[in-house]
Amino acid sequence: MVRHQMTISCDLLRGALAALLFLASASAILPLETYNEAWRPQYHFTPPKNFMNDPNGLVFYKGEYHLFYQYNPQGTVWGHMSWGHAVSADMLHWKNLPIAIPEESGKFMVYSGSAVVDWHNFSGLCTSNDLRDPSCLVAIYTAAGTNSQRQNLAFSNDRGRSWTNYTGNPVADLGQPDFRDPKVFWYEARKKWVMVAVLADERKAVFLDSHDLKSWVLRGSFETPGKERGQWECPDLFELPVNGNPQKKKWVLVVNRNPGAPAGGTGVEYFLGGFDGTHFVSDGPSGQELWADYGKDFYATNSFSDIPPVDGRRIWMGWISNWQYANREPTATWRGAQSLPRELSLKQYSDGIRLVQRPVTEAKRLRQRALLQVTNISVLKAIQTMLAAKTSGDSVEIDAELAPEGAKEIGFRLCKGASEETVLGFIPEQKEVFLDRTRSGDVSFAPEFPGRQRAAVRQISRVRFHVFLDRSSVEAFVNDGEVVLTDRIYPSPGSDGIELYSTARSGKVISLSIWKLGSVWH
Ligand code: FRU
Repeated sequence: MVRHQMTISCDLLRGALAALLFLASASAILPLETYNEAWRPQYHFTPPKNFMNDPNGLVFYKGEYHLFYQYNPQGTVWGHMSWGHAVSADMLHWKNLPIAIPEESGKFMVYSGSAVVDWHNFSGLCTSNDLRDPSCLVAIYTAAGTNSQRQNLAFSNDRGRSWTNYTGNPVADLGQPDFRDPKVFWYEARKKWVMVAVLADERKAVFLDSHDLKSWVLRGSFETPGKERGQWECPDLFELPVNGNPQKKKWVLVVNRNPGAPAGGTGVEYFLGGFDGTHFVSDGPSGQELWADYGKDFYATNSFSDIPPVDGRRIWMGWISNWQYANREPTATWRGAQSLPRELSLKQYSDGIRLVQRPVTEAKRLRQRALLQVTNISVLKAIQTMLAAKTSGDSVEIDAELAPEGAKEIGFRLCKGASEETVLGFIPEQKEVFLDRTRSGDVSFAPEFPGRQRAAVRQISRVRFHVFLDRSSVEAFVNDGEVVLTDRIYPSPGSDGIELYSTARSGKVISLSIWKLGSVWH
């Protein structure tokens, strides 16, 4: 390295020049954030270094999307939880900012929570002198002590760049050790703020309200009579139209369950029903659990607050991991990734209303170049074309509509190497799609990691796979978001083949596009 070859010169000018060259070369050789390490996703958010879990405080304010996240500034496993911070104009190209809210060592860690824009300074914490815009940002997080969990406020009067803890903290305390993860929103019908939080160990969602964000009153709670075990974490509550009809709306109560998910470990459950400002009443199918994702790695969701009404989208992100092995995933200097932002909607199916997720339309901007684009050809021809072209890539989007026409199984082999593959398949007879990472690469770090995750689909004649592969993550949106499967994978270098497969010679590719996606970091 240049650094060791440098000789000290008495000539001041040459010395200065050498110093400049040294700085330039050192930063070229040892950049602080390379974002190119093994398995580093290229268009998903990951922290520059150290451990990250839940997305927190997602909020849109003055042209910026804010992503805060559970962060350990001191190491690559969970601990010292603080709120890390990044901002973006499109939820994809993130700019890392310094830690927003650090732990108070010896007193409390800063657990998950939410952020809102206090548009009218109801809190009195906004210091703007602009009469037309008295707003500021307010974050509500759990101050987690050894034996207590209470809700604190922090506020920012400089677009989230610096944060001050409110001197009257805590603002909500139920005297419980497991009262956490407050999600606050403005409830227009009663012109008040509502907080949904959990009593995690009792698997209970609690509803509090407030007029100033500073004093909160407990009003109601929601729990299920089931015999389920584990904890409820990171709740969310929002209203969505069914089939886009503003006259027909439903409230969605989200609870992140730890453990108890269909694929094992942690996952996102939701209930549909009504909310009157103090109580949630579920009218979902009794005895049936509704899940947002059937992969193993989608957890601790948080939806954006204050997306302007002209946009009107409800968008959430989740952490792509599972508490079964989150501390053991094999990345070296950083650990944890956030999902793509996903737009949520409700759709009426023959068997009921379900939550549908689609990648935000902004994701189209990631497309760098088409690797393949075909329509209406036989599966056989498509397979041959891809083999001949050696179609490959580790940072790609695939959008395929396939008609199996008699095939027992049809789908894609991703990250294919000599002895590795991650399989996304459709088995029409069983009305099932699956994501199989049994032989996806390094699966040795946790016994719960390898395996096949399955989900039921409604139709057998066709399947649409809309896949976002990003080095070590796969998000598969099936049948326009009817089902989603999200998994981390750790393939070996060079395992980047993409193959279409079918168990029969019949079958049609109605459409198939594969794009190489660009990096948001370089
Ligand atoms: C969910 C969770 C939250 C908690 C946070 C701590 O993954 O356990 O309930 O606030 O992580 O990091």
